[in-house]
Amino acid sequence: MLAFWEKIILPLLQSFGVKRIVEIGAEHGLNTSNLLQYCRAVNGELFVIDPAPRFDIQQFKMHFHKEFHMLLDYSLEILPHLKQFDCILIDGDHNWYTVYHELKLVEIMAQQQERFPLVFLHDTQWPYGRRDMYYFPESIPAGFVHPYAKMGMVSGQSQLVHGAGANNLLNNALYEGGARNGVLTAVEDFLQQTPWYVSYHQALSNSGLGIIAPKHPSIDIHVQTILAASGL
Ligand SMILES: C[S@@+](CC[C@H](N)C(=O)[O-])C[C@H]1O[C@@H](n2cnc3c(N)ncnc32)[C@H](O)[C@@H]1O
Repeated sequence: MLAFWEKIILPLLQSFGVKRIVEIGAEHGLNTSNLLQYCRAVNGELFVIDPAPRFDIQQFKMHFHKEFHMLLDYSLEILPHLKQFDCILIDGDHNWYTVYHELKLVEIMAQQQERFPLVFLHDTQWPYGRRDMYYFPESIPAGFVHPYAKMGMVSGQSQLVHGAGANNLLNNALYEGGARNGVLTAVEDFLQQTPWYVSYHQALSNSGLGIIAPKHPSIDIHVQTILAASGL
C-alpha cells in the first residue's frame, strides 16, 4: 500500500472527505502511520485490524491516543462489529475466501449506513491477483483452501518453484488461476453480485491497487485523473 500513499490514497481520502478509516493488515505499521497522521489532521479515527502486527502498539497509542484503535484478530471476526466507516484498506490475507467475505461484510455495513465506502485493495495483480496466499490457513474453512506450499512464484508460470522465485517463504497456492483463486478473482466475483452502484478502478504497478468507489460520472473522472497523474 505504501507505494500508493502519496499519489493515490492520500488525494482520494482528501477529496472524499474521509474521516473514519479501517485498515486490514498493518504489518510494520508504515501505512498505518500515514493514516494516523491524516486522521489527526482531519479529526478522524483509524481502526486497525491485524492478529499479528509487527510494530510497537503502545508507542502508536502514546502518539495517537485519540485517533488509533488496534483490533488484534482476523478481519472476518472484527468487521461484523464495526459500525460505520468512510473508507477501508484491504491488505490482510491475500486469498479469495478472505477478500470475498471482507467485501461482503463491507456491503452489510454499507446497507446500514446507506452509503458504500471508498475501498482500496492491495495485491490485485501478479502474484496474488489470480493465486491465493495464506498467512493464516487455519482461519479459512478447509473447502476454500487450495493446496499450498512455501515455494516461490515466477511470473507467467502457474507451478511454484523450489528455493527461488517471489515470496518463497509464504504459503502460496500450488497453481494460479481457476475459480475462487486470488484477490482479483474475489473482487470480480463480488462486483458481479453486489447490488451497489459502484465502479472499479485500478493501478497496475507494485502488485496492483484496486479501488472500489461509488459510481458517478464526476467521481469516475476524478479517480481516473488521479490514477493517470500518479504514473502508477
Ligand atoms: C502485506 S502485510 C500488510 C502491509 C501493510 N498494509 C502495508 O502497507 O505496509 C499483511 C498483514 O496482514 C495481516 N493479516 C493476515 N491475515 C489477516 C486477516 N485475516 N485479518 C487481518 N489481518 C491479517 C498479517 O498479520 C500482516 O501483518
